[in-house]
Amino acid sequence: MNYLDQEKQRYAERTPRSRQLAEAAREVLPLGVSSHVRVFDPHPLFIASAKGSRLKDVDGNEYIDFGMCFGAGLAGHAHPTVTRAVREQAERGSLYCLTTESEVELGRELRRRFGQDQWRPCNSGGEATMHALRIARGYTGRDKIVKFEGAYHGAHDAVLVSIKPPVGQIGRADKPRAVANSAGIPKGTLQNTLVAAFNDLRSVEHLFESNLNQIAAVIVEPVMLNLCICMPEDGFLQKLHELCRTNGALLIFDEVKTGTKIAPGGASEYFKMKPDLTCVAKSIGGGLPLAAVGASHEIMSVVADLSVVHAGTFAGNPLSVAAGLATLKEVLTPEATQNAFNLCRTLTKGCDEIIRKHRLQATTVHIGSMGMVMFTTEPVRNFREWLRIDQTRWQEMLTGMLNVGVLPFAIDNDEQWTVSVQHTEEDIDAFLSAFEKIAPNLTS
Ligand SMILES: Cc1ncc(COP(=O)(O)O)c(C=O)c1O
Repeated sequence: MNYLDQEKQRYAERTPRSRQLAEAAREVLPLGVSSHVRVFDPHPLFIASAKGSRLKDVDGNEYIDFGMCFGAGLAGHAHPTVTRAVREQAERGSLYCLTTESEVELGRELRRRFGQDQWRPCNSGGEATMHALRIARGYTGRDKIVKFEGAYHGAHDAVLVSIKPPVGQIGRADKPRAVANSAGIPKGTLQNTLVAAFNDLRSVEHLFESNLNQIAAVIVEPVMLNLCICMPEDGFLQKLHELCRTNGALLIFDEVKTGTKIAPGGASEYFKMKPDLTCVAKSIGGGLPLAAVGASHEIMSVVADLSVVHAGTFAGNPLSVAAGLATLKEVLTPEATQNAFNLCRTLTKGCDEIIRKHRLQATTVHIGSMGMVMFTTEPVRNFREWLRIDQTRWQEMLTGMLNVGVLPFAIDNDEQWTVSVQHTEEDIDAFLSAFEKIAPNLTS
């Protein structure tokens, strides 16, 4: 039996209650899960509770959690400050569908951090990017959008395109073909989504040239975090913005993951840039569903004059806003955030040493609170380069480390770890000893 199969067997033996629940779940939930990315072989882990940096499964096994909710957990689990804010708000009512003072405070805090004049809250990253694209289309009066191959911006039709397209369908590296990631996306929608190669301005220029005055916006995750950790080359984002300006299109930063996690003010602060629209979500809610789209007064005028619709029963709901304010103002302080970043750096250095010691065909990359071991020796600049990564090693590391009590990253083959403000030096040491323990098996 190979190493991965052995680890899967150990996992199955340690998690009998999860297996039972997985069987029951399959009867009522397709694939037995509430989101495609929670599928796990041989069966998903069912969680009973979480606190601080720890998860407990339904079999009573404890794990140090570095997956941290696909990066939504910079505050860690059940942070006492967030829990108190949510409890106090729940006592006063969890939904009014009328406006509250807290929403004003949230708008001010988002403006302070991320630099856009005005904000509209919503509930998920996907909603934020959907609204951003509609605002851009409404403002410019154009239909087409550009996204980058390999980028994930949520599960709505316009952007569920060329995320991890099958290699046989992708076309030339400098002129990627738009490939729908799901059945059910209308052909007409697909025609309006154009795909460029990350870190390749010429591929964007080409789209502007061949779709003259038709492109409303370019949406970009400034550091591509759904392609491992794929950094923009020096000047790429700035030149991309110039290209948008020259062609009358808007630049949308999808900061669903980067917001708060590479700098307190996200990629705008890190790269000293002001995009035309900004989408934030995930970590800003401290564990509750909170997202928002922000832009200048000028761009938001299309929302203010009612020409572009933004609405939602749960938009700006008091529970999420209370959690968000507690998170942004009291939990993710500059000191706490910096401490998490420092621990992340220590973790990355420790992984580097283990890679060297065991001569693994791997490298590390980190930014802010996120990092990862990538099973390739070269940095990844775009989706085509990501294809070089050894996917089996990734599965081995994940299952092997889970079996010794550490969830090393979120369970997808392009995900990184998140060090939260509740992780400690002991947690970092525990990650490193778990990695050291399994490293000899990652060499074959
Ligand atoms: C960069 C990015 N944008 C958007 C989304 C969608 O966010 P949500 O899952 O909250 O809809 C994600 C989710 O992983 C993301 O990573």
